[in-house]
Amino acid sequence: MTPEVHRLVPHVTDGTADADTVTWARAMQAAFLGPRMDAGDLARAAAAYAGQRLRGVWETADPAPVATLRSWDARMTVPGGELAVDAISSIGVRSTHRRRGLLRAVLVDDLAEAVRAGTPVAALTSTQGSLYERFGFGLATWTRSVSLETRAARFRAPDPTGRLRTLDVATLPSAAAPVQDRARRRHPGSMDRDAGSWTALLTGETGWTGMVPDRHRHAVLWSDATGRPGGYAVYRVARGWAETGAAEVAVLDLQATTPESYRELWRHLASLDLVGTVSWSEASVDEPLPWLLHDPRPLALGASRAMLWLRILDVPAALAARRYPVIDRVVLRVHDPAGHAEGTWALDTADPVAPAASPTRDEPDVALDVPALGSLYLGGVDPRVLARAGRLEERTPGAAGRLARLFAAPSVPWNGIRF
Ligand SMILES: CC(C)(COP(=O)(O)OP(=O)(O)OC[C@H]1O[C@@H](n2cnc3c(N)ncnc32)[C@H](O)[C@@H]1OP(=O)(O)O)[C@@H](O)C(=O)NCCC(=O)NCCS
Repeated sequence: MTPEVHRLVPHVTDGTADADTVTWARAMQAAFLGPRMDAGDLARAAAAYAGQRLRGVWETADPAPVATLRSWDARMTVPGGELAVDAISSIGVRSTHRRRGLLRAVLVDDLAEAVRAGTPVAALTSTQGSLYERFGFGLATWTRSVSLETRAARFRAPDPTGRLRTLDVATLPSAAAPVQDRARRRHPGSMDRDAGSWTALLTGETGWTGMVPDRHRHAVLWSDATGRPGGYAVYRVARGWAETGAAEVAVLDLQATTPESYRELWRHLASLDLVGTVSWSEASVDEPLPWLLHDPRPLALGASRAMLWLRILDVPAALAARRYPVIDRVVLRVHDPAGHAEGTWALDTADPVAPAASPTRDEPDVALDVPALGSLYLGGVDPRVLARAGRLEERTPGAAGRLARLFAAPSVPWNGIRF
């Protein structure tokens, strides 16, 4: 029998969530092996869920759910525009209740509601590699770590430009939010930050830290010569200088709206006194940083790691929401066992400002499963590579190459916010 899924609406008063939301949050935390917290701390942590959708499966006579899922409406950058997405997180099942279909129940229910609401794409970041493909998600962005030995770093542009200002973390959102909103539009896959996400970034007070504040966070804002803010960095001292004389700094977020702001923020980080290493674990796989340096050797680049998974729910709406660099008409046969994206679709980019995707009876140029479409969507993977991997079938010779030119993105997709 399919488990019954229920919705919970969080009520937040004066920064504190209601008792049902707190019980839900405690159950979710336990599924992720999070720290135990008292009810007051949990109620403050759960306040971040204001305005979001909480789902769960409850058993009779137990106030705590045995399965949880949280989702909210987010904005995601796509090539040439942005798109409403159903952002999904907090999928957890009580350790005594696993492998009985509870994850499936809450996720299928959430996706069905997103379809009813007309949300064309769902997005999540995953702790597990292959878990979500069976639900139609395809891996769409990657991230990797960068680590700079700052004392050996020499910038090609010799002189700093613009102006840097340290920010009090408490006032940072008002200064940084408009910058983040502009900066994220440069990277397909980037998403907006809600109030809870800003608080987590700035104070470190989240459920995962047991609401213990992180007092080692710093923030800096860069403005150009006219005084217009162009970028910010938030970082924490991961290991102090006392033992080694060279502290380790971890970048938590760095958003830049121009090449100049990017360069000056990195120059600032590289010039911090008492610091030996600056690392960023969620950087893009194509950071310009190596190219800013005379010698890239002080910079260590980590292996790329999976980041954002996308589930296309409405093919015409999703395909029409982005822009394409070339004019073409390609027919895609999409296989989706859940039905949402199932069909044969013609993507026509004859009008570059209003591309159209519609059902067609024409013979397909390519055939693919819906996860592969999610992977292609932002331009993060070359369709010819998917064809070589047997994940995309070329029905018309050369069609994968045409798709590669059509879906090419203006910059490598990147989402620096793990949720
Ligand atoms: C991951 C988790 C949510 C799975 O919940 P569950 O209720 O056991 O999953 P279900 O029974 O609904 O399984 C759905 C499918 O996923 C598969 N699956 C479940 N957990 C899996 C895992 N860890 N790795 C690979 N496959 C998995 C099941 O075999 C099943 O496959 P099927 O479609 O072929 O039948 C649960 O183990 C959990 O809470 N883990 C800790 C928190 C966590 O990691 N959450 C995921 C965050 S991204």
